[in-house]
Amino acid sequence: MRESFIIEGLAGQKILKGSVKIAGAKNAALKAMAASILFDAPVQLNNIPDTEDIHVMSEILEKLGAKVVWSQNSLNIDTTGISSTVIDPKLAAIMRASVVLTGPILARFGKVSFPTPGGCVIGARPIDLFINGYEKMGATISETDFNYTIEMPQIGLLNNSTNGISGTSAIGGQSRSETDRTGLGNPSAIQIHFDKKTVGGTETLMMAAVLGGGTMTLMNCAMEPEIVNLAEWLNECGADIQGVGTETIMINGTGGKLLSPKMPYVAIPDRIEAGSYLILGALCAENMTIENCRPDHLALLIDMLIKSGVPIEIINHETSMSSIKSAGPSGQIFYGRIIITGNTKPNSTFKSFDVSTKEYPGFPTDLQAQIVTYLTQVTGGSIVTENIFEGRFKYVSDLQKMGAKLELIDAKEVSIVGPAELRKEHMDTHHQSNDGLDQHLNAHDIRAGFAIVMAALVGKGIFTVNNTYFIDRGYEKLEERLTALGANIRRVTL
Ligand code: EPU
Repeated sequence: MRESFIIEGLAGQKILKGSVKIAGAKNAALKAMAASILFDAPVQLNNIPDTEDIHVMSEILEKLGAKVVWSQNSLNIDTTGISSTVIDPKLAAIMRASVVLTGPILARFGKVSFPTPGGCVIGARPIDLFINGYEKMGATISETDFNYTIEMPQIGLLNNSTNGISGTSAIGGQSRSETDRTGLGNPSAIQIHFDKKTVGGTETLMMAAVLGGGTMTLMNCAMEPEIVNLAEWLNECGADIQGVGTETIMINGTGGKLLSPKMPYVAIPDRIEAGSYLILGALCAENMTIENCRPDHLALLIDMLIKSGVPIEIINHETSMSSIKSAGPSGQIFYGRIIITGNTKPNSTFKSFDVSTKEYPGFPTDLQAQIVTYLTQVTGGSIVTENIFEGRFKYVSDLQKMGAKLELIDAKEVSIVGPAELRKEHMDTHHQSNDGLDQHLNAHDIRAGFAIVMAALVGKGIFTVNNTYFIDRGYEKLEERLTALGANIRRVTL
């Protein structure tokens, strides 16, 4: 079923208003879901966004033999009955994040099979850093027919005995033998240096080592808040992970003991969703509050927007692990707020700036398309450089169709001159094709999808944005929340 959004542009007026409550971070929640495999009993995951990627990950876990129950932004996952170490290829093809499951599966079972991830809409996205890491950990890796099989029996809690992986409920909490416990070869000697910072690679190898027999040091690690969110929870439940949030992480394995769900996991607020709504508010709202977010996770973006001229107030709220613990299972956790207030001046009064994406705490690649859209509306020239993914400018042609003045300099750089009026008329006069699809806009990936919806809202006319599936992968109920802010947007099946 192909769904699209029909959006009425606001023609530059700032008429959205109200508040938007930010959901839990999908890129944090997905990793906690994978980590459920490291536990000896069902885990409770809270503040989970209701997005497509979360449901795909649930299905993958179910195919492995886990029980997954979804209820009002919470998940209960019981992996004690896992009966397979083969990640479903069709589901894995939908979502690259499935590769993160390899770490916990290897840690617990010593073996995993998964498909070679294909290319992806935002670039090639290889997995060499995972594979190199597993090799350093002593794994045997075979690749056949677009499939990888990795065996690392010395760290698996269950060595594949004659009856394979069965009776797994009996595995829960089981410790390995003394011989196994020396696992990971000479563990204290294992040091893995990532040639490139990788979020998924850092999380996956960290989880692969959690139940191991010794110490593993990861160097040049990614430092994203989602990684910290995962490690802090695992530590509360029996893991020993040091240095997370810095470039060097040290994992002291539990010596074969599975983790125990001593407290529920709570996903941190989604900084990318918060940043997306903030940029939208800057362009389309006189007054708007972004509730339930961590302004400290968006420091760079907020600083850039304030310098550009957007009136923004910040209310930080200290949220520590102890405040999360004291909130209890259903208690409310207080986060911060970002407030756009008295944003009455036209967008053309805002100043342009250059942006270069970088790993955290740098400017996130996941906000690159949204900030390019912002820069098409403000006065001056800008260069935006994408340093993380090589295929993340596909949406540029859609903005050009609408009348934005921007050009790709090369695969990594786009130059923008603002302000430009974005109008449906431009699309009607300059782009006519037989099927009429040129007159539609496209969500090329999750984030570009939001950016194009935002461009339609800023623009003049009635716009159709196709491929809403991509947006649904990462943004919870986008049209409902935009409608609540005063936008005229509806979902249709074409
Ligand atoms: N890379 C390699 N080899 C590897 C792994 C990564 O060359 O083995 C490269 C990638 O191709 C990329 C760079 O390293 O050029 C960084 O990739 P990273 O591994 O950090 O990305 P990821 O873990 O696959 C996560 C988010 C992405 C986000 C990136 C960067 C999840 C599920 N996905 O991807 O989120 O863009 O980190 O911050 O956490 C999104 O939410 O829309 C999204 C794409």
